[in-house]
Amino acid sequence: MAKFLVQSSGPLNGEVLISGAKNAVLPLMAAAILPEENCTISDVPDLQDVTVMTEILTSLGAVIEKPAPHVLDIDMSDLRTNVAEYELVRKMRASFLVMGPLLARTGSAKVHMPGGCTIGARPIDLHLKGFKALGAEIIFKNDVSVEAIAPPEGLKGATVYLDFPSVGATENIMMAAVLAKGSTYIENAAEEPEIVDLANFLNKMGAKVKGAGTDTIKIDGVEKLHGAEHTVIPDRIEAGTYMLAAAITRGEILLRNVLPDHIKPITAKLRECGVTVELGDEGLYVVADRRELTSTDIKTLPYPGFPTDIQSPFMALLTTVTGSSTVIETVFENRFMHVAELNRMGANIKIEGNKAIVQGGKKLEGAQVIATDLRAGAALAIAGLVAEGTTEISQTYHIERGYDSFIEKMRGLGANILKIRD
Ligand code: EPZ
Repeated sequence: MAKFLVQSSGPLNGEVLISGAKNAVLPLMAAAILPEENCTISDVPDLQDVTVMTEILTSLGAVIEKPAPHVLDIDMSDLRTNVAEYELVRKMRASFLVMGPLLARTGSAKVHMPGGCTIGARPIDLHLKGFKALGAEIIFKNDVSVEAIAPPEGLKGATVYLDFPSVGATENIMMAAVLAKGSTYIENAAEEPEIVDLANFLNKMGAKVKGAGTDTIKIDGVEKLHGAEHTVIPDRIEAGTYMLAAAITRGEILLRNVLPDHIKPITAKLRECGVTVELGDEGLYVVADRRELTSTDIKTLPYPGFPTDIQSPFMALLTTVTGSSTVIETVFENRFMHVAELNRMGANIKIEGNKAIVQGGKKLEGAQVIATDLRAGAALAIAGLVAEGTTEISQTYHIERGYDSFIEKMRGLGANILKIRD
């Protein structure tokens, strides 16, 4: 098993190129199932999750080529099956995103139930509520796999209210609805930038999706879709992670390939702590040059609120600023697994339900810690940058499945981090 060794590093300096967004490219790849023609997706991040999605699409009959670095040609003209194999689906929850496009294209789909993970049960009830509203019959096969079958006359547009603005459910229902007869309205839809990116890609294929980025999305079904080309939006969570690495080391970095609108809540909170965040011609400057930063409070919410995926890296920063901060997690039911690990490094964090109270300011010490999910792993890596001694992080596969070239990018900024084989 690989481990990361992190040692205290001076203030980070230099520039980092942000990759295409993991949470955009996965639904975009699933959407390539819909047309019977080739789709080209550019600025694809080099991630294990992308490899898994490539394997799943290939198992369904896709011919996938990589004509250039970070470019995928996905040709699904010869769709062989609408059953996503257990062996592949169990590797990644986002595989469930093939359900909607398979149902739309072939009239039925069978996918293994995506498991929960350390941050929560990760149910799929809202995805299935949408498929049912469109007329599909849902059949559970002894709690292992779920099948959706459209009626003989095909799916029919409907109005679906999401009890929670679920990102995955919004994406899956949008993809299921693009070939349905009539109009579909998704109410209380997720508003994340990745939803807008998917809607733009679907519309390039000839779909009629309106309102993405708001809480109500209208999809007018069309007969057929054609191939399209699309470039993935930059990864706002990767950007936020490097912004925090600069802040925690009181450094000064430049981020290239960032859409400032997508990181507004992160920028606002870093400014509250006293970090300068400025947009320049070259990209986004984050400047915390040796400043005494102040504490602040964060509460995670669906977009445009503060992103849950930045909660743990931001908490790492808060352990290093004097004063008390509160962190409230409202999106996932168990996303404080990194607290015990940060406390092993000398942090002083108490949990009360979905609230963590951080008493910051004490110097962190290196320790042996475990990455419990990819964002917690990133949080521990940036905490290690300012801890006395060496921090040894295990289960780093979590980090590498979600951050393209994490070690190289961090070292490029002057971080003392390396990967060892245990
Ligand atoms: C997406 O997960 C992201 N993953 C997550 O990123 C991100 O944290 C999350 O959205 C929230 O922004 C991808 O896009 C691949 P949700 P998703 O459905 O779609 C409940 C990362 O670190 N819910 O919006 O699974 C659910 O239990 C990952 O990159 C239901 O109750 O998130 C959770 O509490 C982690 N029923 C809440 O909604 C459902 O049918 C948010 O889940 C679906 C979800």
